[in-house]
Amino acid sequence: MENEVLLEVRNISKTFPGVKALDNISLTLRKGTVHALCGENGAGKSTLMHILIGMYRKDSGDLVFKGKKVDFALPKQALDAGISIIEQELTPIYDMTVAENIFLGREPVKLGFIDYPRLNKMATAVLNDLEVRIEPTQKMKLLSLAEIQLVEIAKAISYDSEIIIMDEPTSAIGEKEVENLFKIIDLMKKRDKGILYVSHRLKEVFTIADEITVLRDGKHISTESIKNMDTSKLVSLMIGRKVGEDFVKENSPVGPTLLSVEHFSKRGQFYNISLNLKKGEVLGIFGLMGAGRSEFLHALYGLEKPDQGEVRIENQKVKICSPRDAIKNGIALVTEDRKKMGLVLTSSVKENISLASLKELTTGLFIHEKREKLQVVDMVNKFNIKITGLSHLVKNLSGGNQQKVVLGKCFLTAPKILLLDEPTRGIDVGAKREIYKIISSYTSEGYGVIMISSEIPEILSMSDRIVVFKNGSIAGEFNKAEANQENLLHIAS
Ligand SMILES: Nc1ncnc2c1ncn2[C@@H]1O[C@H](COP(=O)(O)OP(=O)(O)OP(=O)(O)O)[C@@H](O)[C@H]1O
Ligand SMILES: [Mg+2]
Repeated sequence: MENEVLLEVRNISKTFPGVKALDNISLTLRKGTVHALCGENGAGKSTLMHILIGMYRKDSGDLVFKGKKVDFALPKQALDAGISIIEQELTPIYDMTVAENIFLGREPVKLGFIDYPRLNKMATAVLNDLEVRIEPTQKMKLLSLAEIQLVEIAKAISYDSEIIIMDEPTSAIGEKEVENLFKIIDLMKKRDKGILYVSHRLKEVFTIADEITVLRDGKHISTESIKNMDTSKLVSLMIGRKVGEDFVKENSPVGPTLLSVEHFSKRGQFYNISLNLKKGEVLGIFGLMGAGRSEFLHALYGLEKPDQGEVRIENQKVKICSPRDAIKNGIALVTEDRKKMGLVLTSSVKENISLASLKELTTGLFIHEKREKLQVVDMVNKFNIKITGLSHLVKNLSGGNQQKVVLGKCFLTAPKILLLDEPTRGIDVGAKREIYKIISSYTSEGYGVIMISSEIPEILSMSDRIVVFKNGSIAGEFNKAEANQENLLHIAS
């Protein structure tokens, strides 16, 4: 017997200047089920979700929620009606606390004032449901990206809505946190809620979805029960062609040591980290949330000052006190949080990509317009960035395409050493493969990459060696042949 219909999306279309983001899309969400939405970067997934919650207005079509036509003009109306969302692009209020963020506009009041003790207790309760330990009184700006994502999840769940939209809810969190989220999703299903789930982590989709709808270029490609779907079928529906086997980094000859780090320490973050990177190598860093991986990369790039430690590049001692020093020494960093660092949202794709290499493109006061354009076009093609033109504003790109801009920008600086923190966050399967190929050919030229990744298949297939961080220290090291999912997780936890 099929579950009762909760939401019907009927023939929805939406056009942005230059793009038909949605072209006559229909789907049905039933009570007590998870309906996954899959598609390449820019396929229209987030746009559809934003129409459901009244953030964007549809051009045509109908939404039928619990048997009634609805047309929300504001997210608040959708929330009140029983639809909440975990947004792909996280937008917390950094100056407020965790508890204030979760219950913004719903704070408990006592004698006309916000009842803080109660507010904090309420926040602790929702965070506990997720098995997350974050202080409710902590300011958002002090949280890691993973923690911010968990707070957003807690917030959406706390509304106890009938429909919860999850747009890439796990892009910044680790395996254990994902498991906890899935437990909650199971509970919601039992309570007859409907979940719309968007993710590029296909393994997750197969774990929790009951049905899958595939979009491509704004068009509905198929809707199938999970029983009739497998990964290779899903991938070919998504990208419209067959893809080969999973990409594995080519073995390039490993050269002499390119970078060595000795006894790097920063109180409260990481302790006595010593490691080296050889020419031609991808060194993977694996660890659980809070293991100190990003903090270590930030210090290596000069964003933060370590208390102790030494860095050598090609056997020369170097002092890196700022990103400028890092760049001068041929180091580039792709940060995990593209919003905080890495992108100027209100600028164009062209400006963003050429920003980092401006110096190289400038002689005197003039930018070589033509050369700039050629290089940027080359990057856009290489990464297959979906834009209507080079002046397309970055904030209007889909999440995955924004991530590609960050990567493109980084490669344009032609670094010798590339530090990548979750480089494929939110990137679709097809584009991931392209990025892996680019990394592989980059290292084959004798350059080196240090890559943090929480996605075990990614770190296993791309790393020549893997170091595992635990509580700020190195807990183990594996070469490619030894590493597998079990021993990585075992050492990390
Ligand atoms: N506010 C906007 N203004 C102009 N174009 C937009 C806007 N929002 C989205 N688009 C365009 O609509 C298309 C669909 O974008 P959308 O964000 O829905 O993709 P997506 O499927 O969520 O991709 P991703 O997997 O990368 O998150 C893209 O071409 C994007 O550039
Ligand atoms: Mg999206």
